[in-house]
Amino acid sequence: MAKILKIGIVGCGAIGSSLAKAISRDFRGKAVLVGLFDMDVLKASCLSELISRKKKLAASLLESLIKKSDLVIEAASGAASWEIAQKTLESGCNIMIMSVGGIVGRYPELLKLSKKYNAKVYLPSGAISGIDALKASVMGEIKAVTLTTSKNPLSFKGVRYVQDKGINLGAIKKERVLFNGTAKDAVKYFPQNINVAAVLSLAGIGAARTRVRIIANPAVSRNIHEIEIISGAGTVYTRTENVLHPENPKTSYLAFLSAVATLKQILEPVKIGT
Ligand SMILES: NC(=O)c1ccc[n+]([C@@H]2O[C@H](COP(=O)([O-])OP(=O)(O)OC[C@H]3O[C@@H](n4cnc5c(N)ncnc54)[C@H](O)[C@@H]3O)[C@@H](O)[C@H]2O)c1
Repeated sequence: MAKILKIGIVGCGAIGSSLAKAISRDFRGKAVLVGLFDMDVLKASCLSELISRKKKLAASLLESLIKKSDLVIEAASGAASWEIAQKTLESGCNIMIMSVGGIVGRYPELLKLSKKYNAKVYLPSGAISGIDALKASVMGEIKAVTLTTSKNPLSFKGVRYVQDKGINLGAIKKERVLFNGTAKDAVKYFPQNINVAAVLSLAGIGAARTRVRIIANPAVSRNIHEIEIISGAGTVYTRTENVLHPENPKTSYLAFLSAVATLKQILEPVKIGT
């Protein structure tokens, strides 16, 4: 009989709490939730109570959660994901990282740690489609990868880059390009887009060669990500119109589902898709 995978979740917000519920509901007999950790102690203990009245899942230290897990799922923040990944890998424990933006600049170090401690790193596709085709295309010759993100102007409220350019978001009446440049600069100036651009860059041709366009469009209410891949194998074009997570309007619901699908792939003997 296959060993039951022991999972610890770091970050009990929208993604972490949805995942905790999905693990206890849909992966019985294959995986078990052994710990929850959040810098907001109350969040972890409330979620623990919701998941299991009998067993206390909230951990007071990240280290103790790592110790009892086979797989740690990071769903905390880009500011913390590198440190969480480092501690997890150094303990020889596998990790799934949702805040990919936090590790994109340290990817070579992450690879080194993963090899040294023989622990795996999983980066779900998140809120975009086309990562499968990109992974295949990059095995041949890639000419260009472009991400075009369209959001309602209000989603860019508080973004420093937009403020510095003196753009009045309320006055935007039709589609307006806010940014056109490399993924490397996009993750610097648009932290909200950081995960999508980071996953795309890591799966493809890197942040310096991946192009990003960011558009404010008053006609859209969903976060739309379009990807164009031009390669020796042809042209791939995908468009994802994301429904927002009910508990966090900054997070796409698909990102949570993508984590569940990654978990399923870890647990299933047959792996479908590239
Ligand atoms: N890969 C993708 O496509 C994708 C898509 C959406 C969100 N994300 C990322 O996933 C992460 C989780 O998203 P969410 O919507 O659940 O966010 P959220 O704000 O709803 O929840 C984050 C939780 O993590 C906790 N937290 C923050 N820093 C922490 C730390 N250092 N240690 C422990 N806990 C900490 C917070 O208290 C909060 O409860 C975010 O970083 C977000 O950017 C990735």
